[in-house]
Amino acid sequence: MRHNISMTRRDFLRASTVVAGTILVGATAGRFGRGLARAKSSAIPTVDRLAVRVVVDNAHDVLVKSAKVGAVDVQRVGWGIGPNLQKQLHSEFGLGFHLESQRGGETRHYLLDFGASPVAMLNNLDFLKIDPAALDTLILSHGHFDHFGGLVSLLKRDRGKMRQDIGLYVGGEDTFCYRWAEPPGGERQSTGVLDRRELAVANVRVITAEKPTVIAGQAFTTGAIPRISFEKAFPTPKVEIGIRDGAGCDASHFSKEEREGKIVPDQFQYEHATCFNVKDRGLVVLSSCGHAGIVNTVKQAQAVSGEKKVHAVMGGFHLTPAPEPYIAQVVEALKEINPDYMMPMHCSGAAFARAVEKEMPGRLIVSNTGTRYIFGV
Ligand SMILES: [Fe+2]
Ligand SMILES: [Fe+2]
Repeated sequence: MRHNISMTRRDFLRASTVVAGTILVGATAGRFGRGLARAKSSAIPTVDRLAVRVVVDNAHDVLVKSAKVGAVDVQRVGWGIGPNLQKQLHSEFGLGFHLESQRGGETRHYLLDFGASPVAMLNNLDFLKIDPAALDTLILSHGHFDHFGGLVSLLKRDRGKMRQDIGLYVGGEDTFCYRWAEPPGGERQSTGVLDRRELAVANVRVITAEKPTVIAGQAFTTGAIPRISFEKAFPTPKVEIGIRDGAGCDASHFSKEEREGKIVPDQFQYEHATCFNVKDRGLVVLSSCGHAGIVNTVKQAQAVSGEKKVHAVMGGFHLTPAPEPYIAQVVEALKEINPDYMMPMHCSGAAFARAVEKEMPGRLIVSNTGTRYIFGV
């Protein structure tokens, strides 16, 4: 293995102790545990610079200009006018990122989530000139199709260009469960499944990161996110526990009561967030759907890293379906955390963006498909 480092929680603690020579306090929370993982920040690498490119999001606006917003360089794509005017960015209800981090002289490239469809993901990777050969690793936040939708097609098209030992980090077994949507009063509909046989055919290693994990020596994941705040998973999505037709998730990873109900409310047990600690700036936390709650997610990133300062919180916060009093409560909690910048995307909702603009003046940066954020240096 060149530089992908997957750590169990025990390894994680051991490494921290060795590197920092310090005693770590607290304990990793198990499923829905109340405790937060705590570690000295020396267990988590800092990076000098981080570039986050939004490969797929719900919308884009070619007329927004690039600008320096405080400490963040915000680069917009614009028209991207070239010889083929038909080749443009595609937006859809999904999310996908390309991440590029630097530490010293070393650069790492990651794809985090893959949009809802191959149409958008593959087109936009080409449009944005993201080279599959340069990727060090792949990360999937959770098992919803609007985040893994472009993955298998990407592998079918570009796996041959990628490094031979590339891996896909997932948060846990529930990534592979069949998913269902059940709108109130409506009919239950399948929202698909990520079939791990497709990953095996593509020779992609699946690395399960239930615990906080350092990736490629520069990024880290939260591991399963403890539910310590008032936040709740909105109950519409459902999860099917078990294997069917060769796909699905192993029921032995779930509690007896979940196994008894074949299709149950989805608690997003192993959704995880990808984070960086940017030198002299603080944490950048990338939430993809935010089912575990954005406040819970950021607090877990703080606890895992030992870094209190939060520079940016970005991604999907799953607040579109939330009532306004709940959104107000989330914004209040975020004000206490005091991030420098908020970039809500995807499922965060317009009401949340309005509340951030009002209650956290100067912190909101409106995001678009194609937008690239440069943090640090
Ligand atoms: Fe989701
Ligand atoms: Fe989503």
